[in-house]
Amino acid sequence: MKIKNSVVLVTGANRGLGLVFARELLAAGAKKVYAAARDPAAITLSGVEAIRLDVTSADDIAAAVAACGDLTLLVNNAGIARGSPFLAPGSAAAARAELETNYFGPLALSQALAPALAANGGGAIVNVLSVLSWLNLTGAATYSASKAAAWSLTNGLRQELRAQGTQVLGLHVGFMDTDMARGIDAPKADPVDVVRQTLAALEAGREEVLADELSRQVRQGLAAPRGVYLGEVAA
Ligand SMILES: NC(=O)c1ccc[n+]([C@@H]2O[C@H](COP(=O)([O-])OP(=O)(O)OC[C@H]3O[C@@H](n4cnc5c(N)ncnc54)[C@H](OP(=O)(O)O)[C@@H]3O)[C@@H](O)[C@H]2O)c1
Repeated sequence: MKIKNSVVLVTGANRGLGLVFARELLAAGAKKVYAAARDPAAITLSGVEAIRLDVTSADDIAAAVAACGDLTLLVNNAGIARGSPFLAPGSAAAARAELETNYFGPLALSQALAPALAANGGGAIVNVLSVLSWLNLTGAATYSASKAAAWSLTNGLRQELRAQGTQVLGLHVGFMDTDMARGIDAPKADPVDVVRQTLAALEAGREEVLADELSRQVRQGLAAPRGVYLGEVAA
């Protein structure tokens, strides 16, 4: 995957990590960036093509497919976090909403846009995952489950798209300095650094990016004698 002259669709490109993706892609020489947002008026970055795309809307996805026939790179970035433990009131509603955006959205978009990627030489898909794809944080339990589902989606898509030459890259990161983690008091990765690592990994043909120390540690902890996902032992 070469970023120079690529044609990219970034979901949730109006703020946070998605906005940084759009800006860095332009800076790296992308030919066209479709900056997708639920409200296209919220796209203020110059040099991109704003498109309306709620990733939970089948109509919006169909319109995006019609508009983006020249696509070579899809960045499934849009996401929500409701901050719900599993046993809190309303957790099922939170879980459904998060699955719709964080799992069914990337599934539907990947399926709908795979033919365009194939027609344009294979291209690539980036799925923005999390360290919480691998462990469950009680304060974001239903969100963690949606990111675990999105990780499995990423691994399955990689196999199903290999024959058409589409590179599938999963991006794992702990907390990032965006609106989503505004209330979190913990070290946060710089979204610019995260995006630059991801674009370099795409160009190197890699399948996974562990963008910060936390995601690297947790990834390693999966293979520990007591897997890190088993959680704290009661004192
Ligand atoms: N921040 C972190 O600590 C962190 C850590 C690991 C992974 N992530 C992941 O990184 C990605 C980007 O999140 P962020 O940190 O940039 O969060 P953010 O600042 O809250 O931005 C979320 C973006 O997703 C968009 N979005 C939400 N629902 C959507 C929908 N149904 N259709 C289209 N767009 C939708 C939002 O659009 P609106 O403006 O319309 O709401 C916004 O552009 C997400 O997948 C998130 O899960 C974040």
